[in-house]
Amino acid sequence: MPRNGAKMLKIYIIFLLLILIYLCSFNILNLINNLSQEIIPSKRTLGFDHIYVIGLDYRKDRREIMDKQISYLNLDVEYFKAVSKYDKILHKFTNINSKVTVGQRACYVSHYLIYQTIIEEGFNSALILEDDVDFEANITDIMADIYQNLPESWDTLHVGHCYETIGQPVGSSSFPNKLYQSVEPQCSHAYAVSNSGVHKLLKLIDPMNALGPIDYEISTRVKSKEIISYSIHPQPIIQWKEGNPSDVAPTSHYPFSLTNSTMNLLGLINENKYPEEWM
Ligand SMILES: *[C@@H]1O[C@H](CO)[C@@H](O)[C@H](O)[C@H]1NC(C)=O
Ligand SMILES: *[C@@H]1O[C@H](CO)[C@@H](O)[C@H](O)[C@H]1NC(C)=O
Repeated sequence: MPRNGAKMLKIYIIFLLLILIYLCSFNILNLINNLSQEIIPSKRTLGFDHIYVIGLDYRKDRREIMDKQISYLNLDVEYFKAVSKYDKILHKFTNINSKVTVGQRACYVSHYLIYQTIIEEGFNSALILEDDVDFEANITDIMADIYQNLPESWDTLHVGHCYETIGQPVGSSSFPNKLYQSVEPQCSHAYAVSNSGVHKLLKLIDPMNALGPIDYEISTRVKSKEIISYSIHPQPIIQWKEGNPSDVAPTSHYPFSLTNSTMNLLGLINENKYPEEWM
């Protein structure tokens, strides 16, 4: 009997140890989870996992202006080589017979390739910029505030846009640049995509069967609510190119669409007019 009792005790202790190990491993897993959640999104990427700037190789002029702003704003970006209308790769991805112009198809494929890269790199979110944008000088503070109000579930966030109507307000910001539900945002010069957003976009759109330019494709999916989307008003990142159909101040000259334009601060705007010779 005593031998049997000792055996029972051993089994009992081993059992307890197993339970303890099991509980500990749970705690450790939780701890790892919490640690990874607590990684603060970098200010240098405006709270996103990554920033891409799409630009054509030969537009060194735009690159120069962009570089100066990026360095002033202390941002961390990756330049992504845009597909040009002369690139052979265009024919692999798009349909020559489509109604969409060759320039629009090139732009479409450039954005599409970025979506694929975001998945490959495993980013949870990325901000996609075109190389002809101007920023509010305090874009870092603005985006930190927007992030506070951004719901957990989102597919696209239109930081810059055109022809966009103001939708339902979201969150409670005391700053001028506020978050709203998107209505039908157009233009593709400054928008962010989440991982779920990229997956949806890759499923919903197809360069071979483009219904229109990339921003049209996105805006129709936003309008139909297939994509959960938010827009910032007034937009803190605008496109400076001439003929910019900005919804902010269509009649005024571009620099005044922003409260405090980075290009203006850096003296990159001459004579308060569009740098049309750069187009
Ligand atoms: C950004 O700067 C503008 C003035 O240029 C100011 O009105 C606004 O409150 C600032 N936003 C944040 C979030 O700090
Ligand atoms: C514009 O930004 C600069 C640099 O951050 C700052 O010194 C200046 O006060 C800002 N002007 C306004 C009107 O917010």
